Parts: sequence; C-alpha cells; structure tokens
Amino acid sequence: MPVFHTLDDIDPRGKRVLLRADLNVPMKDGRVSDDARLTRLIPTLRDLSTAGAKIVILSHFGRPDGKRNEKYSLRPVAEALQIIWKKPVAFAPDCIGPEAASAVAALQPGQILVLENTRFHPGEEKNDAAFAKQLAALGDIYVNDAFSAAHRAHASTEALAHLLPSAAGRLMQAELDALEKALGNPAHPLAALVGGSKISTKLDLLENLVAKVDMLVLGGGMANTFLAAQGVDVGKSLYEPDMLDTARAIAAKAGARGCRIVLPTDAVVAMQLKANIATQTVPVASVPADAMMLDIGPQSARNVAGLLASCKTLVWNGPLGAFEFPPFDRATVEVAQTVAALTKQGKLLSVAGGGDTVAAVAHAKALDDFSYVSAAGGAFLEWMEGKTLPGVAALQIRR
Ligand code: 3PG
Repeated sequence: MPVFHTLDDIDPRGKRVLLRADLNVPMKDGRVSDDARLTRLIPTLRDLSTAGAKIVILSHFGRPDGKRNEKYSLRPVAEALQIIWKKPVAFAPDCIGPEAASAVAALQPGQILVLENTRFHPGEEKNDAAFAKQLAALGDIYVNDAFSAAHRAHASTEALAHLLPSAAGRLMQAELDALEKALGNPAHPLAALVGGSKISTKLDLLENLVAKVDMLVLGGGMANTFLAAQGVDVGKSLYEPDMLDTARAIAAKAGARGCRIVLPTDAVVAMQLKANIATQTVPVASVPADAMMLDIGPQSARNVAGLLASCKTLVWNGPLGAFEFPPFDRATVEVAQTVAALTKQGKLLSVAGGGDTVAAVAHAKALDDFSYVSAAGGAFLEWMEGKTLPGVAALQIRR
C-alpha cells in the first residue's frame, strides 16, 4: 500500500488549506438531488475546522470544457454544503485571480470557502503547471479528499500535490483503506461480483480480477455474453456477439489461475424491459427465442448467496439484473441483503462501488451494512482494473 500523509500528520492551525473535494454532485432543477458526496466530506471539514485551518475548497463540477458556464457553477453546491455544515460557507466566483485571493484573505481559522469550478479554466484538465501554480498561491497545505476524481491527472488533483505539502483527507483515507483490504491485501477466499450490461466496457476489470480473485460471479448482460460463448442460446437477451472470443479467453485465463467463474443457471425472462411486466423463470438453457433474460433466477441468486457465505472478502461492481425495473431487481436485492447480513455477522468484508452499484445497494436498503460503499464511479472502476490513479500517486510520500 502506498504511504501518504493524513490529517494526523499536518498542523493546519491558522494555515490556508486547499482542500480538493469532489463536489460533482447530481442536480435536478438547479438543486442538489443527492448530497452523499457532501456529507462524506464532513469528517475532513470537521477535523480541519477544529484544528483551526482556513479551508479553501477546490472542485470541478460537470464538464464545461475549460470555459465559464453558469450551468456548471458551484454556487448552488456551496449553498447545499452550508445547509449540511450548519455554519456559513463562503463562495468566490473564480478559483484563481484577485477575486479568489481576496476571498481567501478574508477567511478566519475554522471557516470554509468554496471556489468556483476549476474546469472553467482550460489549465485544469491539461494538468497545466502554470494554472496549478496559480492555485497553489492560494494555500499553504494541500489536502486531497477527492478519491472519486483521482483517476484524472488534472491540475487540482495531480500537479498541485507536487507544489505544496500534501495529505490525504479522511474520505480519501477511508476509500484507500477499504480498497486495500478488498483487493490490495485481502483475506481469502476473495469473490468479485460483476454485473452490468457489457463486457466491452469492463474488459480491463475482468482481466485484472481473474488474476486476483478466487471466484468471479457474473450477472447482468455480461453474463449473457459468457453464456453465449459456451453455446447457450440466449434468445433476444442483450449480449455482445463480437465479444464471444474475448469471453472464452477470460474464462480460460480464469481456469488456468484457479479462479472459478460463476454464471447463472436460471433466469427471469420477459418479452420487454418494462416494470411489472409478465415474466417467466427458466433454466438458462431454455430461454425462449423471443424472450430476454433480465435478471438472474432465484436458484442462481440462492447459489450466489451460498457461495458468498464461504468467502471472507467481496468486491462488487454492477447490478445482477435490470434492477430499476421491478421485478428484475429481485436477485440484486436478495444478494445485497445476504452480503449485508454476512457483513453484520463479521463473516465478510464487503466493498461495493461504481455507478449503478451504489443505487442498487441503496435500493436493497443495504447501504449501511456493507463494510464500505465507495463514493466513486470511474475512479472505482479504474482502481478495480488495477490502474494507478494519478491523484493517488501524486499524494504518495516521496522518499
Ligand atoms: C465522477 O463523478 O465520477 C467524478 O467527479 C469525475 O468526473 P468526470 O468523469 O467528469 O471527470
């Protein structure tokens, strides 16, 4: 595990701390619709504020392509943060230059200022040294708490870490800790549960996982491609005909390494992907020619639950079925609840993350009982692929 400074190693009293957060939150009608990334920032804000730091938050928001665009202003996000923080949170309409500098100068120890979207400047995504220097001029210490943006080598996630004394924030620390326990140095047997629609988007991930895990459980559309690769007629189910050789190669690699691939044996099928439509449960070998597999079947879900009971660690990315359309949420809910129960009993260390996965685990009302649910989407996937995340690498202590 790479070594980082944390908030325990810095003395931020009276200092200007540039805190790289990920305030890239979902919005609806101009309001924050899911504040999970804001609430997860609170431990870092609390520790820095209590220690007397002047907290200057940097973040991107959306993809404004290096130009100012009010649609991507962080102002409403700063307002939402103020409600959660329950104390004033100041806002400056730029992240560099005189307006930012005077807002930073007005900060008292313990107070928080949010600077406008870093991506309003082209230098951010170019990881531009001059832009990073302008950011660095506003702080004395750099703290990165944006694990979910750490797969981007941008000025505020990468270059800046080299210009100031740097540390990981509490959220970054928690993410790295959980990920290390799940894949870096896990207790075995180690299982990975991977769902979602396409192999093609998760090729690197599958390749990396079969080299590391003892058991790879597949669901969703990607399981259909593996079944088709074994000669199963998947009817009208979503699958990738041009990925059959790839699926066979991954299966062969898994076999050579002693990694067991677990595919569904039965499936819930329907004529259309629509909520509450008529369904049938069939063995995967008997999918009707005009039907689609939209969830793994009850026998498969029970099998997965039973297998997980013999594991010590689980890493989960991607739902097992089309969980947004009940009843195709059943297997995902059942397996998530089993994982939650095993975790609560102290038998399983469970880490989930990436896009839909958090929504699926939340839908199963199991979020609080997993060992860790990552706030990251793309960064979680890249980490599962075994890639070095530039924002994490830049924090590493250089000896
Ligand atoms: C995310 O939401 O996954 C991160 O904030 C990264 O956003 P990006 O994909 O626009 O870089």
